[in-house]
Amino acid sequence: MSGRPGLIRRYLDRLPFEAGDPIVTLKEGSTPLVHAPWLSERVGAEVHLKIEGANPTGSFKDRGMCCALTAAVKEGAEAVICASTGNTAASAAAYAARAGLRCAVMVPEGKIATGKLAQALMHGARVIALRGNFDQALTLVRELAARHPIALVNSVNHYRLEGQKTAAFELVDELERVDAVCIPVGNAGNITAYWKGFQELAHAPRMLGFQAEGAAPLVTGRRVEHPETVASAIRIGNPARWEEAMAAMTASAGRIEAVSDAEILDAYRLLATREGVFCEPASAASVAGLLKHGAGDARRIACVLTGHGLKDPQSALEQAGSVIPCEPGLEAAERAVLG
Ligand code: F0G
Repeated sequence: MSGRPGLIRRYLDRLPFEAGDPIVTLKEGSTPLVHAPWLSERVGAEVHLKIEGANPTGSFKDRGMCCALTAAVKEGAEAVICASTGNTAASAAAYAARAGLRCAVMVPEGKIATGKLAQALMHGARVIALRGNFDQALTLVRELAARHPIALVNSVNHYRLEGQKTAAFELVDELERVDAVCIPVGNAGNITAYWKGFQELAHAPRMLGFQAEGAAPLVTGRRVEHPETVASAIRIGNPARWEEAMAAMTASAGRIEAVSDAEILDAYRLLATREGVFCEPASAASVAGLLKHGAGDARRIACVLTGHGLKDPQSALEQAGSVIPCEPGLEAAERAVLG
């Protein structure tokens, strides 16, 4: 077989699957790790960006979803369900379509980025807009999955974490040693998965998790009833993997800290304009956190950019410069181009 293997085949010996399993794949994983010269200079260490937006549906969720859907097919499920701030919904919808399973996604009404909504709808999922937040949606889908023969594919499903831990394998494969990993934290599945992956390799970088100030339960130690942040992907007040994330932080001598919306948006623009990397706002929380809180004495740092910038064109247009109108003549074109 040529080309990318897809992560189940690439890491078959470290995942709970066998070669004969009905593998559901869109050739996820093996994402680029890009050195960040501007950021490295700014923080005085070697910084790399893990571009998870390069996965098939544009976010890291595909790593977990290929495993969750493979397990669902293996177990004879006919339908899957999830609660989502958008990316999980897009990924579940795509992998369910691929597997020929029905898919329902429950999202907070009016609170998910346009691209993610378009993806879920295009892949034929039943999209339910909840008049409530993500935490309420997760409670409801857990209840629905307990009552009906529908597989739950949120990161409470351990196959999701199995898939997502492979990003840690890729970091170690490429960097050999990594001292700190900066990662945005919402429902806390991903930081839990990375730590699991590193532990399996007997590797222990400091896990530095960052939440948005208006949705920072792991920082304050208290649930947030009405989470608010421009980073809609991590607008979560009661993470399902709360204990696991805290355990990862403690065991790795890491930290979980908050960053403001303004700091997130600064990092979002800086990544696009200085490094040429366009991620979504939630992803930029990892870099905002590094810029604000540093990484102690870490020399080699990886920032996880969890989702592609095109997911959320609205936020981009609100943050970026405006277009320059131009009449169809040479003089007007010169003025427009040269300023
Ligand atoms: N970054 C992005 C772009 C996300 O979509 C998410 C989570 C996270 C970071 C945080 O990861 O929840 O494992 O701590 N998105 C979920 C969703 C909640 O429904 O798409 P986490």
